[in-house]
Amino acid sequence: MTRYDSIGHGYARTRREDPRFRERIHAALGDARTVVNVGAGTGAYEPRDRRVLAIEPSRVMTAQRREDHAPAIRATAGRLPLRDRSVDAAMSVLSVHHWDDEQERGVRELRRVTRGAVVILTYDAAVSGAMWLMAEYLPEVAALDLRIFPPPSQLAAWLGGDVRIEPVPIPRDTPDWMLGSFWAHPERVLDPDARAATSGFARMPITVVDRVVSEIARDLEEGLWDDRHGELRSLDALDVGLRLVVATPG
Ligand SMILES: C[S@@+](CC[C@H](N)C(=O)[O-])C[C@H]1O[C@@H](n2cnc3c(N)ncnc32)[C@H](O)[C@@H]1O
Repeated sequence: MTRYDSIGHGYARTRREDPRFRERIHAALGDARTVVNVGAGTGAYEPRDRRVLAIEPSRVMTAQRREDHAPAIRATAGRLPLRDRSVDAAMSVLSVHHWDDEQERGVRELRRVTRGAVVILTYDAAVSGAMWLMAEYLPEVAALDLRIFPPPSQLAAWLGGDVRIEPVPIPRDTPDWMLGSFWAHPERVLDPDARAATSGFARMPITVVDRVVSEIARDLEEGLWDDRHGELRSLDALDVGLRLVVATPG
C-alpha cells in the first residue's frame, strides 16, 4: 500500500486543476507531442491534446482519474518503464517530495527518458516555511518540508542542461486547494476535507492537527488572525514558494 492509498481518498474533490497553473505547465512543455506524467495522480494538469503516458503507484489515486484521461501505468519514478529519450517531454506536479529514497534516481529518470523539456511543479520549502500557517502554527510541516522537498537548485543540478526556476503565485480563488492556497483562507484549516487533501496536514499526527485547528479557530474568533494578517484578504495572489522548474537539455 502506498502513501496515497491511505491519504488520497477524496483528493479529486478539493484538488481541482487551476487553469492558470495548467497554462504555465503546458507552455513549458513547448511543442512536445508525447509527454510522460510521473506521479500523475488523478490526472490534474495532464494535457488532453497530446499523447500522455501517466505513471502513478497509488490505486486510490488512479481510481479517481476521469475517463478522458489516459490510463495510468502502476510504477514509481525511480524505475520508469520507458526507453532512453523515448518521449518528447516529462512533467511531474507536486510529486517529487513524495519519492522518499528514490528522489534523485527519479529526477534523473525523468531526464533519461525525455528528449526535450522536463517540467516540475514543486515548492521551495525555504519560502513556503515563512507563510503564516507554517511559521506561526505548523512548524512541524515547515520542518518536514525542509527535509522532503529538494531545493529547486538541487533539482537543477540533477537535471543538468539549461534550467529556469520560475515563481508561481497562488491565486486566492484557485480551485486546487493545495496547502499553499491556505495563505488566503485561514477558515480552510477548519475544514476536515480540505485538510485531508493536503499531504502537509495528512502526514501530521492527530494531536498536531487538533492543536492547529483549535488555535486558528480561536484566533479567527477573537480577531487575532485578522489583526496580524488581515491585509492578505485584499490580495488576489501571493508567492508562497510554489516553483516551476523547467529543464531543457544543454
Ligand atoms: C500531491 S499528489 C499530486 C498528484 C497530481 N500530480 C496532481 O497534481 O494532482 C502526489 C502524487 O505522487 C505520487 N507518488 C508518490 N510516490 C511516488 C513515487 N515514488 N513515484 C511516482 N509517484 C509517486 C502519489 O501517489 C500521488 O499521486
